[in-house]
Parts: sequence; C-alpha cells; structure tokens
Amino acid sequence: MASPFRDGILDGKVAFVAGGTSGINLGIATRFAELGARVAVLGRDPEKAARAAAGIGQGAIGLTADVRDYGAIRAAMEDVHGRLGPMDIVVSGAAGNFLAPVLGMSANAFRTVVDIDLNGTFNVFRGCHDLLNLPGASLIAITAGQAVNALQLQAHACAAKAGINQLVRVLALEWGPDVRVNGISPGPIEGTEGMARLAPDPQTRQKHFERIAMKRWGEIGEVAECAVFLCSDAARYVTGTIIDCDGGSQVGDATQRSLDKGLA
Ligand code: NAP
Ligand code: COA
Repeated sequence: MASPFRDGILDGKVAFVAGGTSGINLGIATRFAELGARVAVLGRDPEKAARAAAGIGQGAIGLTADVRDYGAIRAAMEDVHGRLGPMDIVVSGAAGNFLAPVLGMSANAFRTVVDIDLNGTFNVFRGCHDLLNLPGASLIAITAGQAVNALQLQAHACAAKAGINQLVRVLALEWGPDVRVNGISPGPIEGTEGMARLAPDPQTRQKHFERIAMKRWGEIGEVAECAVFLCSDAARYVTGTIIDCDGGSQVGDATQRSLDKGLA
C-alpha cells in the first residue's frame, strides 16, 4: 500500500501500544516502527508479546500485563519509560468481545468487556500522563462503531466503547494543550480476531459488507495510516475527536434502519 507518510517522520518518538500484540494494534505498532519510532507492545500472553516484538524488529519491546490491573499497567509503562525514555505516543487498543444477548450474559460477562475496554483505557491513559514527553504527546484510543450504533448481542461492547468516546473527549479537555487525545473507530477489518468473532458466518459477513460504502473490507494498514496521521504534526490541531476508518460503514446506518422499518 502506498503511504503518504515519509520514512523517518517518527524518528526519535517513543510509542506504547496496549493490546499491540496482534491484529489492528500490532499493525499500528509495526507502522510506527517502520516510520522510525521505538515501540513497546503489551498483551496478556507473554509468548504472543515476544513474537509480536520480534516481528516488529527495530528493538521493539514486548510486555505482559492485563489492562484491567492498574498497578501492572503502570509498572509496564514505567519499564518502557526507564528503557526508552518519555513516551510521545500511547495507543489504548486492548479489547474483548463476543456475541451474546443481554439475557445470555452474566453480570461478570458484561463487566469483563467493560473492564477490558473502558476501564482498561482509563488505566492506560491515567497511568501514562506523568511519563509522557510534554508538550506534544498524542494519545489514541481504539474504539468501534458500537459506541454510536446500538447493535443487538453487543450491549457490553456498545456500553464500553461509548464510554471510551466520552473519555477521549474529557481527556482532550483536561489535558490540552500539552496532550492531544483522539480515537479511531475502525470498520470491519479483514483477517482480524474481531471480524472472526463478530461476523462468524457468511450471512453476517454479507450484512456487514452491505453497509460499507467503499464496497470492500478494510485493511489493517489503513487503520495504521490513520494512527500515524493522528500522532503526526499534520494533526497538531486535532484533539477530542473520533476518526471513523470504516469505509463509510456508519454513515448510512440511520437511513438504512428507517428503510428496513419502512419509515423513509
Ligand atoms: P485482537 O487481535 O484480538 O487484539 C486484541 C489485543 O489486545 C491483543 O494484543 C490481546 O493480546 C490484547 N488484550 C486483550 N485483552 C487484554 C487485556 N485484558 N489486557 C491486555 N491486553 C489485552 O483484536 P482486533 O480485532 O485486532 O481488534 C483490535 C482493536 O480494534 C479493538 O479495540 C477492537 O475493539 C477494535 N476494532 C476492531 C474491529 C475489527 O474489525 N477487528 C472493528 C472495530 C474496532 P492478549 O490476548 O495476549 O492479551
Ligand atoms: N457468551 C456469553 N458469556 C461469555 C462468552 C460468550 N460467548 N464468552 C465469555 N463469557 C463470559 C464467561 O462465561 C464469564 O462469565 P461467568 O464468570 O459468569 O461464567 C465472563 O464472560 C468472563 O469470561 P472469562 O473467560 O473468564 O474472561 P477472560 O478475562 O479470560 O477473557 C474475554 C475475556 C471473554 C473477552 C475473551 O474472549 C478474550 O480474552 N478476548 C480477547 C480477544 C478479543 O476478544 N478480540 C476481539 C476484539 S474486538
């Protein structure tokens, strides 16, 4: 994929990617490293973290912690700070998801997703502030369309991702002008765990596909380019916003729902 970003634009930057050991977030971490950043990725599985770091190369660090555990996340970020210096870029992308109706999920199931996605993002952002390179640091939360579109079987993710969007906005207010805080809301990205879980059969895939204005699945690299933009100087006046990198999946939703119900 041709990129508008030139090699070296992230030279000297330090990036920490929570949930960066697979999928979309690993793609983001890899792109940061290709463009010159020194990168640390974090997940729960140590072998996966080590594999991810080795795959990124360029001295990338693989760390293990659960984003639900504030102390563990803080310790991981102190470790990165000690080894690489103050952080310029922090991405919070760890998430958990499964399809289940409210009556098919226990209180613990609901809490688990909210805890990983929303409380995890609080922990990552709260824990990094005094370890950032200020002014000019860029924080990015990976959210999802569930934040704004109610979806059946997704009560936990809808609640959690909506909370993330608001956290992004509040932090942009509280931490500006030194820190910019934004979100990226990917659409259906081919070849990811999220797609495998949320579109597990051909019929569901087809429903997702029909909503995409661009009429093709998204690529991990396309979300990574958005992340590079958000932490580049080109986005120096961009904060408190959520970028939909979803091929236009969201824009037709309201109209489509009305048509489905015969209201339009
Ligand atoms: P993925 O491959 O499953 O990546 C999840 C990452 O988070 C892994 O590195 C995982 O590693 C880590 N993780 C999970 N729970 C964690 C925890 N409690 N503590 C620390 N790390 C944890 O998922 P993906 O499909 O690429 O999705 C990545 C992000 O994009 C998510 O925020 C998701 O909501 C968002 N998104 C994805 C899509 C899509 O099409 N895939 C669409 C919209 C939004 P371990 O398992 O080792 O912990
Ligand atoms: N339907 C209903 N409930 C489910 C479920 C499903 N498909 N999958 C898990 N749960 C419930 C469990 O039964 C448990 O509730 P209980 O204690 O009342 O029985 C609760 O959720 C927690 O499950 P557990 O397996 O203990 O959680 P975990 O912390 O080990 O793992 C998950 C978290 C469940 C989100 C797991 O799927 C995960 O680690 N996901 C990360 C990867 C991912 O989801 N990627 C896609 C991102 S979009």
